[in-house]
Amino acid sequence: MTEEIRRGLAGVVADSTAISRVNPETNSLLYRGYPVQELADTQLFEAVALLLWNGELPTDDDLEWLRANGRPHRMLRDDVRAAIDALPLGSHPMDEVRTAVSVIGAREGEGESLLESGASREENVARSLRLFAALPAIVAYGQRRRHGLDPIPSREDLTYAQNFLWMTHGDLPDPVVVDAFNRSMILYAEHSFNASTFTARVITSTLSDLHSAVVGAIGALKGPLHGGANEMVMHTFDEIGTAGNVRPWLDTALAERRKIMGFGHRVYKHGDSRVPTMRAALGALVEHYDRPDVLALYEALEREFVERKGIYPNLDFPSGPAYHLMGFDTPTFTPLFVAARVTGWTAHILEQQADNSLIRPLAAYNGVPERHVQAAEPV
Ligand code: SDX
Repeated sequence: MTEEIRRGLAGVVADSTAISRVNPETNSLLYRGYPVQELADTQLFEAVALLLWNGELPTDDDLEWLRANGRPHRMLRDDVRAAIDALPLGSHPMDEVRTAVSVIGAREGEGESLLESGASREENVARSLRLFAALPAIVAYGQRRRHGLDPIPSREDLTYAQNFLWMTHGDLPDPVVVDAFNRSMILYAEHSFNASTFTARVITSTLSDLHSAVVGAIGALKGPLHGGANEMVMHTFDEIGTAGNVRPWLDTALAERRKIMGFGHRVYKHGDSRVPTMRAALGALVEHYDRPDVLALYEALEREFVERKGIYPNLDFPSGPAYHLMGFDTPTFTPLFVAARVTGWTAHILEQQADNSLIRPLAAYNGVPERHVQAAEPV
């Protein structure tokens, strides 16, 4: 068998999935057959979570199930808060989120034997919902803790997006901000076999538990080539400062052969299908907060970089400044990605579990030829 190596598994079809379709030819993204733009325009993030898990948009009964079984888990648990508080204040928020999910998993897996750790589909659907419900309080508390503020109790009368913003800022958010946030959660929810999702599937394929798979996915998403890029986009904006400084900044960055965060994609090569929707949400926020300077910088950097390198923005490019305008501090950006993508990760965990095969690729050996230990002199 010829050993054709495809580094980074670029272009390799590793399995099939019914959850989403990323199509670079048509620059489109479907969640269970629905164009993501239509879902962002018409649905609450809660409904998209149910669509990803169940394969269909929810009925009123489905939404009632989500509210009845999810909303009681919105509060910040004492054991989770204690675990976060045990970490240094300077810990990276992705480490806080990863630790929190690990604590929840240890509690839910209490007493389970190795064979049971896969849990049934029904139990894993329930665990997925509880994680989906719990993450906003964890992410919101992380930001408030960094600013010396106490957590704000969740509210069961609010939608997911309203409650997330409420727990972060302590005031009822403006509908413009709620809509932009809801859209960002839907756009970030799922993207086929990206690095963090594939990590979750690899861990699930060994019959390990759901929380271990999500913890592994969080570790993968933290990297700046993947989810960490949205935080790096904001650092880029802070470094450049104003639109007028884009050209000299880019001259230096490209001379130093730096990756410009928020641009490029392994699959999309002519633009990320999600960007127009998130760019429109950013525009609404810029108008709401009267921050034309943010848009001027965004457009100047996009124009300059696309002209020079022919590499297009990905979803992280508009999301960074949008989250900044919504009042999230920069280190919170990638945890927001976790709160959204936990729906896609858990949908893939359920799909892998339903028709499992251990994921174990081959490697072409390029080390030293076989050799043998020289007979040692008798001691
Ligand atoms: C996400 O997979 C997913 O679906 C991910 C995601 C999801 O929803 O899960 O869409 C979310 O992770 C989006 C990507 C976020 N990452 C960034 O914004 C980081 C910056 N982007 C690059 O690092 C890069 O574009 C990647 C890693 C995203 C993709 O790179 P590839 O496909 O591995 O291609 P490559 O790195 O080999 O780049 C090809 C060429 C190289 O030039 P040469 O070395 O051949 O001369 O293009 C250049 C690269 O240097 N290039 C860039 C660049 N992206 C590619 N140069 C400068 N800045 C960039 N952003």
